[in-house]
Amino acid sequence: MSKIIVLMGAPGAGKGTQARLIQERHGLPQISTGDIFRALAKSDSPLAQEVREVQAAGKLISDELVIRVVRERTEQEDCRGGYILDGFPRTTGQATMLETIAAEQGHEIVAILVDVPFDQLEKRATGRRTCPVCGEIYNIYFKPPQNDNVCDLHPETQLTHRADDTSDKIKVRLAEYEKQTRPLLDYYQGSQRLHRVDGTRDTDAIYADIAKIVTGQ
Ligand code: AP5
Ligand code: MG
Repeated sequence: MSKIIVLMGAPGAGKGTQARLIQERHGLPQISTGDIFRALAKSDSPLAQEVREVQAAGKLISDELVIRVVRERTEQEDCRGGYILDGFPRTTGQATMLETIAAEQGHEIVAILVDVPFDQLEKRATGRRTCPVCGEIYNIYFKPPQNDNVCDLHPETQLTHRADDTSDKIKVRLAEYEKQTRPLLDYYQGSQRLHRVDGTRDTDAIYADIAKIVTGQ
């Protein structure tokens, strides 16, 4: 049966980094709700303005909107053989709706927690820089680009720093995670669908564990 890989983890845990590797090496599309809404926020509309404000504040976007976007995206042709959800579900309402979506689409849900203690997350988030062209994720402390603030693959392009990657916004995001998202770990654990990987190691070691889960080995 094809799989929906639900990548879970606190803000800055490494979901996006790992999702990009799975996409590249297993051909499953990465669906990052954070990326989708950051792209939407760039347009000029009242909805874009609202999304921009909610994201910049580190709060969660409404279930109704997020679910609509995920449903639409996962109904596209490239998701037929399964897909990776990076940053969804984040609330009980979203998790419930994902059960319906998975059943309708004929996929099984496999949840993977990239587990990193809170005290290691601040540097990961404040140090993150992203290439706006290819989405490559860097970190000024742990994975700096070869040349200052430009992408290795797109040297003409300055890396970007997210509006919510500041110390005070990370506190808000962690509090949202604790309150709204952490209960989902018990939810998936209770139905034997949760796999935990130690996210404090280097990227390749984490990926090696994830690859085994994705391929069912
Ligand atoms: P989203 O974009 O999903 O942000 P997040 O969950 O806070 O997670 P991040 O993207 O910050 O971290 P990540 O785990 O992807 O880590 P990364 O790989 O980049 O959501 C943002 C906002 O959008 C939300 O606050 C909300 O407003 C809205 N939103 C999104 N989804 C929603 C939903 N479902 N419902 C409601 N609202 C929603 O890595 C982080 C850094 O660490 C990088 O610099 C990286 O290089 C580095 N790093 C990665 N792995 C390692 C490693 N092993 N060792 C050292 N450094 C590492
Ligand atoms: Mg991310």
